[in-house]
Amino acid sequence: MNRLKGKVAVITGGANGIGKVTVNKFLDEGAIVFCWDINTEAGNRLLEENKGRNLKFNKVDTIKITEVEKAAAQIMEEYGAIDILINNAGITRDATLMKMTQDQWQSVLDVNLTGVFNCTQVISGHMVEKGSGKIVNASSVVGLYGNFGQSNYVATKAGVIGLTKEWARELGRKGINVNAVAPGFIATEMVETIPKKLIADLEGKTPLGRLGKPEDIANAYVFLSSEEASFINGTTLSVDGGLVI
Ligand code: NAI
Repeated sequence: MNRLKGKVAVITGGANGIGKVTVNKFLDEGAIVFCWDINTEAGNRLLEENKGRNLKFNKVDTIKITEVEKAAAQIMEEYGAIDILINNAGITRDATLMKMTQDQWQSVLDVNLTGVFNCTQVISGHMVEKGSGKIVNASSVVGLYGNFGQSNYVATKAGVIGLTKEWARELGRKGINVNAVAPGFIATEMVETIPKKLIADLEGKTPLGRLGKPEDIANAYVFLSSEEASFINGTTLSVDGGLVI
């Protein structure tokens, strides 16, 4: 408890899945949380569930730099700082190489790379002024090892690992830590689209014998955002039960 006391945190894609559990963990740890998501209905539900807690929801499409700038400026006006950015929003649009449409390719690049770039560019500017900050990006086990039918997604999740190293170099001297988390297969809606047989197969291949829980990733986000991780920079932390070792 209170590992993030008083810290102002932006969590993108915080209205569902891993992001939603992360919002709760960050609140438990004493953070002031801003959830940025395009899903207003889920965002309002989240607010309802967390009445009386330090949570704000903003409808922000991370692809749109003007929306990101506006939402960040509002936080700066109210709190004077953004201490933590969790670049968690991400989408999949799966198809094999031969069947992937231009739209499937581009939409995944837009959210998983441009969205991450936009939020980091805008928020790191404010962090640099303060001389401190923590940025954590959502990669994936498939960004490290590839996956059938996910050219677009794999490209972005591998790209996020590269960007994490790049930004760790650029921003480290300004007092900002940039790291990534590479989740294995986590039991959220995203995984519900995967056939049952494949899930059983993945569980069998995981030394810990189960899929991950959103809490497993949320715990890694908290750790990398906390002072306990103050000398960790540019790393990608695999949280996959040992699926690929
Ligand atoms: P999810 O689909 O449950 O939630 C993603 C959230 O992002 C949704 O609330 C959605 O509305 C929001 N979002 C989508 N586009 C957005 C945009 N342009 N701007 C703002 N918000 C947007 O996803 P899940 O499973 O919780 O995944 C979270 C992150 O973890 C993603 O980056 C995903 O790629 C990554 N990941 C997930 C794994 C899994 O097994 N679930 C495995 C490895 C990585």
